[in-house]
Amino acid sequence: MTQVITIANNKGGVGKTMQAYQLSTHLANEGNKVLVIDLDSQGNLSSTLGAEVRRTLIPEWLIGDVDAQDVIVPSVGKYDFHKNLDVIPSSRHLANLAKLLILSEAEVRKNAGRKERLLKLRISELNNKYDYIVIDTPPMLGDELIMSLVASNRILIPTQAQDYSIDGLEELMDTFEIIKESENPQLEFSIIPSMVNARRKIEQTRLDELAQSFKVTTPIRNLVDMQESISLKKPMFLMNRKSKGKKDYKKLWDSLGLM
Ligand SMILES: Nc1ncnc2c1ncn2[C@@H]1O[C@H](COP(=O)(O)OP(=O)(O)O)[C@@H](O)[C@H]1O
Ligand SMILES: [Mg+2]
Repeated sequence: MTQVITIANNKGGVGKTMQAYQLSTHLANEGNKVLVIDLDSQGNLSSTLGAEVRRTLIPEWLIGDVDAQDVIVPSVGKYDFHKNLDVIPSSRHLANLAKLLILSEAEVRKNAGRKERLLKLRISELNNKYDYIVIDTPPMLGDELIMSLVASNRILIPTQAQDYSIDGLEELMDTFEIIKESENPQLEFSIIPSMVNARRKIEQTRLDELAQSFKVTTPIRNLVDMQESISLKKPMFLMNRKSKGKKDYKKLWDSLGLM
């Protein structure tokens, strides 16, 4: 069975796209067949994986006007793992999704029952061709994120120190609970401290507070070589033995059983 993993946080700049890049490349490198679905119209993940951002297509795929084979492209890059990694690149006009969903309401209802289930339906049509599907989402609680939560087995929530309050996560956790109860009882979540400055005491204090309310994973530190990883299009697992980021991610994926 395909494992579907969504990276989500309704805040921007918390390290979602970073996490989606490191996770999808790691899984592909371990020999899994991996599909990345880039639902953020900025398309940063698509570009880092060597896939061109399209003008349209994801919305058309979701409503059933085009087939999966028309939206899936191979990832491109100089490393071996790319052969295991396909991408559904972002569409600039994802912003039109809401409009399109209203226009095709009757069709959507006939096929999926309700629009929230569309992505799940399209993923089921891939017939377990992939071991893992990793979904990157935009920084808002819109249709893209809701559809992803309905379609997923688990959700990874990168969280930054300034948001280490229950308040900051409240909106997302509320949505998570609703989806879990109504559509997807198996859905699990993990909160991942992201871009952590270990030397700042205030961050440690906030992290401890957060850990009292939620189960929190091992942290990912704020490190210069993480940014290099994106600009060089070279995942952390390919960095040298001494790389702190490489260690952080290895610990994280091991602890989550993602290998
Ligand atoms: N652990 C990290 N250490 C240093 N820089 C990071 C780290 N994680 C992400 N970044 C950088 O921070 C910025 C925001 O990260 P990004 O993954 O794009 O966030 P989001 O997708 O949540 O908006 C990017 O420039 C990214 O390269
Ligand atoms: Mg992003």
